[in-house]
Amino acid sequence: MIDIHTHILHNCDDGSESLEISIKQITNMIDNGVTDIVLTPHYLNSYVQTDALIIDKQFKELTKTTADLKVNLHKGGEIFLNPGIDDKIINKELCIGDTSYILVETNMGEFTPDIYETLFNLVKMGLRPILAHPERYNYIINDPALAEDFLHRNVFLQVNAGSILGLYGSKIAKTAWYIIDNGFAHFVASDNHCKTDEYFLPLAKEAIRDNIDNYTADLLTSVNPQRMLNNEKIKYFYLEKQKIEKKGFFEKFLRKL
Ligand SMILES: [Fe+2]
Repeated sequence: MIDIHTHILHNCDDGSESLEISIKQITNMIDNGVTDIVLTPHYLNSYVQTDALIIDKQFKELTKTTADLKVNLHKGGEIFLNPGIDDKIINKELCIGDTSYILVETNMGEFTPDIYETLFNLVKMGLRPILAHPERYNYIINDPALAEDFLHRNVFLQVNAGSILGLYGSKIAKTAWYIIDNGFAHFVASDNHCKTDEYFLPLAKEAIRDNIDNYTADLLTSVNPQRMLNNEKIKYFYLEKQKIEKKGFFEKFLRKL
């Protein structure tokens, strides 16, 4: 498994509070079958101020300290979609590793002003935005069809493991499953804030396997994350609608490679 959304980088944001906590979490993730971890501290978020230079410094320290562990760490950020943010993302600042993929977030309550224009500007810059935890935003909870709209705008969607498991409540769980079941999710990640020793990504993967299929479980936790790290293209839409005749017409979604 590859975890593309974590707050394990120490002393950056509201995640890990020490190098020791980070190492403990990383060791636990390795024991749970994780090979690659993307470190995504909040960035340009007015509630959690983080400096890009601090992220860089902490990343170098954590990478050096964990050099003997069997895991690859990748630098990134969770960029808050303030209007005008595209002017601040210079030289692909805080894109994931050496890729064009960039993890972004917005307000839980209302979308940030000009969110679609801001995303469009990022796409025009050649970046590939991944919207973090769409299932947690009120706009999408109230109208889940808005999730599909992001795919038409060249934005990928990353669902949180905890949402799938009901850790944020039933409405968010329902929205998360709607997004996954309709083929609108491209990634599932932990969004691990180091507040517990429990690691939920394997449990979420198992739940997807049980409720949907093996293919989707692997696609969202391993296959697409690896494509992303390789900076390869990922399909926005990967389900195919097919009409099947059976006492009239009805539509069924088929999962496709
Ligand atoms: Fe996050």
